[in-house]
Order: sequence, then structure tokens, then C-alpha cells
Amino acid sequence: MKERSSIAVIGLSVHTAPVEMREKLAIPEAQWSRAIGELCNLNHIEEAAVLSTCNRMEIYVVALSWHRGIREVMEWMSKTSGIPVSELREHLFMLRDSDATRHLFEVSAGLDSLVLGEGQILAQVKQVVRVGQDSGGLGKNIDRLFKDAITAGKRVRSETNISSGAVSVSSAAVELALMKLPKAHFLSARMLVIGAGKMGKLVIKHLSSKGCKRIVVVNRSAEKVEAIREELKDVEIITSLSMR
Ligand SMILES: NC(=O)c1ccc[n+]([C@@H]2O[C@H](COP(=O)([O-])OP(=O)(O)OC[C@H]3O[C@@H](n4cnc5c(N)ncnc54)[C@H](OP(=O)(O)O)[C@@H]3O)[C@@H](O)[C@H]2O)c1
Repeated sequence: MKERSSIAVIGLSVHTAPVEMREKLAIPEAQWSRAIGELCNLNHIEEAAVLSTCNRMEIYVVALSWHRGIREVMEWMSKTSGIPVSELREHLFMLRDSDATRHLFEVSAGLDSLVLGEGQILAQVKQVVRVGQDSGGLGKNIDRLFKDAITAGKRVRSETNISSGAVSVSSAAVELALMKLPKAHFLSARMLVIGAGKMGKLVIKHLSSKGCKRIVVVNRSAEKVEAIREELKDVEIITSLSMR
């Protein structure tokens, strides 16, 4: 009997896999099109999309056969990451049809994020569609799935209070840190931020918006600290230490 096609998601996330494993599997945006091409060349895969962020690496496919399709994608993930299938299997989750759809809707709504309701993931889901369009289309089913997930993500944010309060890892970290400090000390306290990459800069911006303007930044190299100093002129970057 001929098997029917399934929508499937095979992936791992901050809830199922350590950062070292997520880093090995991560696919930078510039390589999404190539990855989609390789996945669609597998025998039982008709359509594919890659959702690769700091917190998750998920592959959505339309598979002609659930079992064979899943196996091919797992082997592809193993080949691209260098992680044996036996090890990957312990951290992967696999969902099919309505479960896969519900999962993407939850991801898009920020319900599966480390910080509930964070907004960056919705932009990342949108980016998957944008990159798909620029490289010839994701395929009709996956394209529909992602567009519906974007609609769901927007509705959840506009019709509920999920995005009130801390809505990113950096803002949550700042709120948590400031809970330890009486408000009267915000202006005079010296705050230590380790790292001056994108996250470090966001932390400094959040601290600054809360009134903490004296910040010690520790970073491997000086350039990024200098760039932050230039951009955030109202913040006093007191010391920049090199860890080299
Ligand atoms: N960006 C996001 O929205 C986001 C969201 C959630 C989680 N995260 C996670 O947060 C972490 C930082 O992300 P990011 O976006 O801020 O990265 P990034 O912009 O690339 O910054 C990386 C930082 O780490 C330092 N670094 C890198 N390799 C190093 C090494 N070998 N020795 C010492 N320092 C080193 C860099 O120093 P130099 O300036 O000297 O290069 C820089 O300060 C990552 O684990 C990421 O997965 C990021």
C-alpha cells in the first residue's frame, strides 16, 4: 500500500540538547538555501525548511514516507554536524502532521522559548519564509505552514499579554540582576558585563535604560567595546579588560 505524505519536524532545542550540540548543528542563514537543496535531494523528502537559531535547530519537511524520510534527515544532520546518529537520537524530537504544525505555532508564538513570549523568534520564523522566497520557494505545504505560524504568532502577541514584561534573554537577565540591587543604587552601582557581542551590547542597553550608567565590560578584544562606547555615549564604560 502506498504511504501518504507527512509533514514532519525533526529537531533539537534548548529544552532537549546542550549548547555544544546545538552549535555543531547550527546552520547560518547564508547556508539555508543550500541545506534546503540538499534535503530536497533526499529520496523521500519533497519540501524542506530550516529553522536554525541560538536556541533551536529544527528541520521541517514534507516526507513521502514518515520512517524513511525521518531516517534520511537524521543521517543528513549527522553528516553535516559530525555527530553520530546514535548520539543525535538521544536529543532529537520528531513530530508529525498536526503535532508538527502545533509545535511550529507554539514556537512562533514564543511559547517554546527560553523566555516566554520573546519576540525574536517570530522575526526568525518570518526570515525562513523570506529566504525561502528569495531562493525559489519553500514548497507549497511548508510555505503555507510557516505563513500560518506567523499569523498565529502575531495573534498570540496581539490578543494576549504574553509579550508584556521581559521578552528577551538579555532583558530577563537584567531584570534578574537588578532584583538584587536597591533602586536607589542603580545610578551609582558599577555593573560588570562579560562579553561585548550582540548579547553583551543588548545587556548594556537594558542596564542603561534602567538607569545603570556605569558599566565595566570584559571582552577578549577591544574593538567591540570601543564600538559600544562610541554608540552609547551616555553610558560610562569604565574599563575594558582583555582576556587574551
Ligand atoms: N544574539 C542573540 O540574540 C542571542 C539570543 C540568545 C542566546 N544567544 C547566545 O548568546 C551567546 C552570545 O551570542 P552573541 O550573539 O552575543 O555572539 P557574538 O555577537 O558573536 O559575540 C560573542 C562574544 O563572545 C566572545 N568570544 C567568542 N569567542 C571567544 C573566545 N574563544 N574567547 C573569548 N571570547 C570569545 C566575543 O569576543 P570578541 O569581541 O573578542 O570576538 C564576543 O564578546 C551565544 O552563545 C548565543 O548562542 C544569543
